[in-house]
Amino acid sequence: MINVTQLGYAGVNVVELDSLQHVLDKVCGAEVRRDGERLYARVDERHHRLAFYKADAMSLAYMGLEVESLDALRAAENELRGKGLEVTRATAAEREERAVLDMIHLRGPDGVRIELFFGAVLEKLPLKPGRAISGFVTGDLGLGHVVLACADRDAATRFYTEHFSFRLTDYIFWSEAEATFLHCNPRHHTLALMNPCFGMVPGQFNHLMLQVKSIDDVGRAYDIVLEEGIPMVMNLGRHTNDQMTSFYVKTESGFAIEYGYGGVEVDDHDWDVKVFNAPALWGHALQA
Ligand SMILES: [Fe+2]
Repeated sequence: MINVTQLGYAGVNVVELDSLQHVLDKVCGAEVRRDGERLYARVDERHHRLAFYKADAMSLAYMGLEVESLDALRAAENELRGKGLEVTRATAAEREERAVLDMIHLRGPDGVRIELFFGAVLEKLPLKPGRAISGFVTGDLGLGHVVLACADRDAATRFYTEHFSFRLTDYIFWSEAEATFLHCNPRHHTLALMNPCFGMVPGQFNHLMLQVKSIDDVGRAYDIVLEEGIPMVMNLGRHTNDQMTSFYVKTESGFAIEYGYGGVEVDDHDWDVKVFNAPALWGHALQA
């Protein structure tokens, strides 16, 4: 069992960069750096936590799962190889681009590229947000969460909970959707696995979530989205399970960015796994 401490970073292949850059910068308040056909978003003291690459089709390029030391990374490599999984060591160029000390990678369910890393590079200067916000909730909770559609949700759940230290948080079943929520630290979920519902195909990247420190950060972002007519997947609402108050920006590449406040945290010593029959307490209405 490999102890994963957090989702450290994520990379996404996108078909469009300009409006995404605007959303990250002026709606989310990230510190965005454009490098030709790439976008990097910084949300805390780390060099960056999000990377976006211009591509022909949208997909999750990789998710970076953090381990606690270089020794843990070597042990993880041996453990995965011992189980017959194919593991590759990062090249120097990959380590530099991800801004980490060391990294290995493998393919998970539905071909998702999982990167295990240690040693995120820190920036010396404070974060310079794209708009005035109180800040992002990261630290030991990690970047946020990602949601994927899986060909076999149960098999994917076993993969992440048997090879890695992901633990079951809860489930939501509604309409044609089945979702399993997993945590690796107190953040309610770092990874959510869904069946290929609502037209999603197996392996499809549905959304990533960024959490901010104030409901006013969310409210002001919502004002900007409404004023500028930026498309949404779902309007403002509050989730049943993690109780996050959030809304979902629809990117032109087809994935969503959930921008939220106030998610509950999991204490593994006192946590009951629940089953919900709806994703929202209120709001989160699907937008045309
Ligand atoms: Fe979410």
